[in-house]
Amino acid sequence: RRHLLGIAGLSLPDIHELMDRADAAVSVSLGLDKKKTALRGRTQINLFFEASTRTQASFELAGKRLGADVMNMSVANSSVKKGETLIDTAMTLNAMRPDILVVRHHAAGAVALLAQKVACSVVNAGDGAHEHPTQALLDALTIRRRKGRVARLVVTICGDVLHSRVARSNILLLNALGAEVRVVAPSTLLPSGIENMGVRVFRHMEDGLSGADVVMMLRLQRERMQGSFVPSVREYFRFFGLDAQKLARAKTDALVMHPGPMNRGVEIASEIADGPQSVIEEQVEMGVAVRMAVMEWMMDTNAAGPGR
Ligand code: CP
Repeated sequence: RRHLLGIAGLSLPDIHELMDRADAAVSVSLGLDKKKTALRGRTQINLFFEASTRTQASFELAGKRLGADVMNMSVANSSVKKGETLIDTAMTLNAMRPDILVVRHHAAGAVALLAQKVACSVVNAGDGAHEHPTQALLDALTIRRRKGRVARLVVTICGDVLHSRVARSNILLLNALGAEVRVVAPSTLLPSGIENMGVRVFRHMEDGLSGADVVMMLRLQRERMQGSFVPSVREYFRFFGLDAQKLARAKTDALVMHPGPMNRGVEIASEIADGPQSVIEEQVEMGVAVRMAVMEWMMDTNAAGPGR
């Protein structure tokens, strides 16, 4: 069975195939073309142990656009609240014979563990600070459609890299596609060993943004910071918030991206989030196409059998 647990598990041909499939799915995902039937008769369960707007809604829409029967497990009203474990919950759902489980969990590695226990394909919709592969794919698709390529572009990822599964998946994917990846963050919000992930690290926005083709802002994840370092919002915005003055260091046609949800006035000024260089809404649009492509690809790969 084919899963999508992280960008780390994908070959370069897999990445290109997924992006090409997603590009081809855009007109269907936007409802401009006829609905597809690739997942007709398939059952997709979305199991989100953490809050989500974009990812859960777009997986649901993607499944429906492909003709699947889609069920959203309401974890808040489930037996998880009575103490049922992740694995017992997954095994219970597995007994109902789904074809695809889409899972978000607060613990890194939880989705991979679950994938070992169930008999269906599993998609990682975000596990702790580990990976969020479909977000990285939709970000790369947004860049490729706007710029015509990803290779050799300078992409600067700014902010709370330490807690960001989006940053981790993006670093892996953008490097695989040949981009020059930079990160800008305060030292307290950088994971150790980040230099070994093929990125250039900057401490000041003005330096990291200089000549950038793409500026990718990250949400300051204060809910994951326990006491040790919670920066003041005003100070954080002053040094690491994207405003017009800092953005002026990037190329004049640089794209501004944010995976959402945004903290306006914390990591990004409203005038930039809503400004002419922002492609934040386009990222959301690409989300449905990417999730359609991922699920169709998993089912096609499974159908092709283990010898593929
Ligand atoms: N980008 C992202 O994962 O957003 P949600 O948390 O709303 O799904």
